[in-house]
Amino acid sequence: MAEQAKRGWFRRGTRLFGMLSVSRKRIWLLVSLAVTLAVLEGIGVGLLNPVLQYVQYGSTANVSGVFGTLLLSVIDALGLPEDLLTLLVFAFIPVLLRQVVFLAYAWATARVQQGAATRMRADGFGALVNGDLAFIGQEGLGNLVSTLTAQVQRGSQAITLFLQQISIGLVIVIYVLVLLVLDWRLALMAVGAIALISWLVKGAVTRSRALGAEMVRRNNETYSVIGERITAVRLIKMLGQEPSETSRVRDVVRRLADAQVRIAVFSGVIEVTIDPLLMFTVFAIIFVGSEYLHADLATLGLFLFILLRLNQKAKDFNGGRQALSATIDSLISVRDVIERAKTSRQIRGGKTKFTGVRESIRFEDVSFSYADEAEELVLKGVDLEIPARSQTAIVGRSGAGKSTLVDLIPRLRDATGGRILFDGRPVQDFDLRSLRRSVGFMTQDAILFDDTIYNNLVYGLDREPSQEEVESALESGYCSQFVYDLPNGLQTRVGDRGTRLSGGQRQRLSLARVFLQDPDILILDEPTSALDSESEEYIQKALESMRHHKTLLVIAHRLSTVQRSDQIVVLDYGVIVERGVHGDLLEAEGAYHRLFDLQIYR
Ligand SMILES: Nc1ncnc2c1ncn2[C@@H]1O[C@H](COP(=O)(O)OP(=O)(O)O)[C@@H](O)[C@H]1O
Ligand SMILES: [Mg+2]
Repeated sequence: MAEQAKRGWFRRGTRLFGMLSVSRKRIWLLVSLAVTLAVLEGIGVGLLNPVLQYVQYGSTANVSGVFGTLLLSVIDALGLPEDLLTLLVFAFIPVLLRQVVFLAYAWATARVQQGAATRMRADGFGALVNGDLAFIGQEGLGNLVSTLTAQVQRGSQAITLFLQQISIGLVIVIYVLVLLVLDWRLALMAVGAIALISWLVKGAVTRSRALGAEMVRRNNETYSVIGERITAVRLIKMLGQEPSETSRVRDVVRRLADAQVRIAVFSGVIEVTIDPLLMFTVFAIIFVGSEYLHADLATLGLFLFILLRLNQKAKDFNGGRQALSATIDSLISVRDVIERAKTSRQIRGGKTKFTGVRESIRFEDVSFSYADEAEELVLKGVDLEIPARSQTAIVGRSGAGKSTLVDLIPRLRDATGGRILFDGRPVQDFDLRSLRRSVGFMTQDAILFDDTIYNNLVYGLDREPSQEEVESALESGYCSQFVYDLPNGLQTRVGDRGTRLSGGQRQRLSLARVFLQDPDILILDEPTSALDSESEEYIQKALESMRHHKTLLVIAHRLSTVQRSDQIVVLDYGVIVERGVHGDLLEAEGAYHRLFDLQIYR
């Protein structure tokens, strides 16, 4: 990054459009608008010269210089009177024109910038939802959210900043040219003095850039420290950590404030050094210009006007360079995240539409590892036959690999070794969408959107369900009671992640969703482990009602759920160590019996 920052802003800037995939046509439009703006500004300022000359001498007789001669020839050609009013009107035209072009420029830049931001966000989100499940865990949720929102926002500003740099750079060049045209000797003096001044403050500018970088770091630190603590506020309260966390936040915020104060003081120091030096230069030019070169008031006046504007532009240019560098860094980090998401393990479906299992799901020598380096296998040589329309329970200690195993069925992950077959056909043959829609999945935390109960219920359903269907799904999920007790019934909003419902209600609502989806295969990954016994009983009953219609896979803590299964599989460290039915397994006094003794199954 540091290496990149050293490269000139222009080279980094030109690569920017490629990164944002802005079309060539658009780039040319934007750049030519920026150039037009700069040229109009130069002309506008230059035309002040003949105006001032007229004011000084009272006639056009003494109007001279490139701008004056040019303007007079235009006025003559049009047969207009050579008076002050005409001169003023003509001097005003570029100013008006500039405003029109500026509007077009502002519109075009905003369009291109927002277009690029939209593409990046949509592209990034697409890469995330299509990418590996583990990717989000690795990168961190907060980091990804800030990447796709704030970082993209910052990064896309690079376009505006880059064009602004081009425009300011051109204006500076044009100003210098105007100065040269007005009086080349004074112009050389001014340019020499400015070069000297910038050389004198160079060290200070470098230091202020370092301070700027520090401030960005402090800012990020503040965001993450505060964000993290707000998310964990329950824990903080429960452990009585309010005072210590408040003082922690105060420290971080204070460090940010310190950095900000230092920056303010530093900019002030630069400002108070540069301004007198510049005024000294201006006075020197007045002195030399009037004493030795006999420059007229019109020329000197305009000279001073341009010099002071030049000072402002130079400041803008320097500020823009830093801002541009920072936004390009944001952009690079956004692009890297999207790249990484795209190159994470992608899962692509086959052609065959999945219509359900008739005989069985077979695991053949299946292994899995989360890391590409594959040092540690989470599943090792798993052979398993899951007959259709039966209930299979998977048990084992926490971390044994149960969740990983069931994730392989709807291909939320792909096995890194071995095969999974549906009625003899590899799972990769099937169209992903139809496969996943045939699998109902319930986990420990029911996933709900901040929307109405109804919309959560029908989420992902590709048909409009009838009133009866909805009611029967609510009934089967044991939701009717609580849903109709709510003031707005089905139209009640459930709150962020469903927080306005109890854990049991959330779980029952997602059960109702499964009923409505009517999947061929149903996977329950410890859905009852965080439930009150009433909700748990409901889920038991629901499971019972689906028995012999659906292929059921349950991972459960409760003996009552497990013991009725047609097949129980004991997993330990990613290996199947035992399988059978409840009675036989207990008698065998093996791994299942030990789990039983450990009272994992109550
Ligand atoms: N996203 C992940 N990235 C890396 N390792 C993981 C990930 N998820 C689970 N693991 C590891 O894989 C092993 C099996 O996890 P899991 O299948 O969730 O076990 P179980 O569901 O039996 O408790 C554990 O050692 C766990 O640390
Ligand atoms: Mg698990």
